[in-house]
Amino acid sequence: MEVYSGLAGIPVVKSSISYIDGQKGILEYRGIPIEELVEKSNFLEVSYLLVFGKLPSQREYDEFVCDVKNNLQIDSSIIKFLKDIPKDTHPMKVLQSIIPVLSAYDPNKDVLDEKHHYSSLTRLLGQVPTVIAAWKRISENKDIIEPDFRLSYGENFLYMIRGEKPTKKEGDIFDKCLILHAEHTINASTFTAIVVVSTLADFYSCVSSAVGSLSGRLHGGANERVYYMLSQIDKTEDIPNIIDQKLKSKERIMGFGHRVYKTHDPRALLIKRMLQEISDRENRLYKIAIEFEKVALKRLKEKKIYPNIDFYSGVLYSLLGIPPLFYTSVFAMARISGWIAHCKEYLKENKLFRPTQIYDGGHNIKYIPPEKRG
Ligand code: ACO
Repeated sequence: MEVYSGLAGIPVVKSSISYIDGQKGILEYRGIPIEELVEKSNFLEVSYLLVFGKLPSQREYDEFVCDVKNNLQIDSSIIKFLKDIPKDTHPMKVLQSIIPVLSAYDPNKDVLDEKHHYSSLTRLLGQVPTVIAAWKRISENKDIIEPDFRLSYGENFLYMIRGEKPTKKEGDIFDKCLILHAEHTINASTFTAIVVVSTLADFYSCVSSAVGSLSGRLHGGANERVYYMLSQIDKTEDIPNIIDQKLKSKERIMGFGHRVYKTHDPRALLIKRMLQEISDRENRLYKIAIEFEKVALKRLKEKKIYPNIDFYSGVLYSLLGIPPLFYTSVFAMARISGWIAHCKEYLKENKLFRPTQIYDGGHNIKYIPPEKRG
């Protein structure tokens, strides 16, 4: 028997939700190229596509948007709960702990009953952005901004976070970022979600566990760290030296590298294009990010290490007025649809995850009382 470290290259499911060709830099959701979805669709339509396997009819779409929007409001007891959490708690920790509490307000969450999947999905898509925005305001001792149902999904989130309405362009760009973050085959957090659903735990437990998995710096937590890394750089001329120092000390360059992509991550290319659309070319962080990518790519390309989605997302979010601490929670709010799509698909032929191990410890070892342990 052999151990497959990190399960690299080991298929654990058959799935028709998304497809990656890591050599060619292709990503598709339900067979539709990501470029096409970013250009022509919107986040809620893509969520429907991912979870239900087809683009919605106009009636299905209108109903879905309406059901998500009807769930934007969170109960006052959740706000009270948020107000009691220490203000320096990271938003990802807050999210991970609040999501199971949201389940208390959902009477229909039996995962074996398919009709309840819709209600968990629309509740989570509605309430999670409001929780994130409420936490942002509470942690800064500011008044909470109530959701505005007239705004689009993306616009409303930016409004609740910032306290001022975004422009249409900002709302559209943010919505496209959500599409890019919505799904990405069986990565660490999605695997976490399906492991949890395989026990027949409800979708709230799956999403909450996946949030914990996403928070790590090797996964979704990278976007926040990229921002800190770039914002600490004073001048573009310092970049080659900074990168060389990091590589010399075997430090990972945040926002670079991917287990599957051995060429450009198509999401990174799209997000960079969006950044170029809205950024002032003289913006300091923008200039540093562009130069950093150029130099890092020169050093890492030989090893097939390219920028991933997290390299530019933080820079873009900073221009949209989202504070760095909240970058990974934005990723999480978008990934809810991907996680739920995989849980729903996995349940069709559910088998409890129970891998095995190769034991390499001792046997029949005598217990030593504390006073004799030395
Ligand atoms: N910077 C410098 N070197 C790197 C990087 C990086 N970002 N990524 C990989 N390498 C090097 C490793 O040091 C290793 O070198 P070695 O063979 O000389 O020892 C080699 O590439 C292979 O590294 P692995 O960790 O085995 O590659 P893996 O495919 O598992 O890495 C990972 C994927 C974890 C994402 C890695 O690239 C990394 O740590 N990146 C930085 C964190 C990051 O940006 N995460 C976000 C990923 S995208 C997402 O989750 C949304």
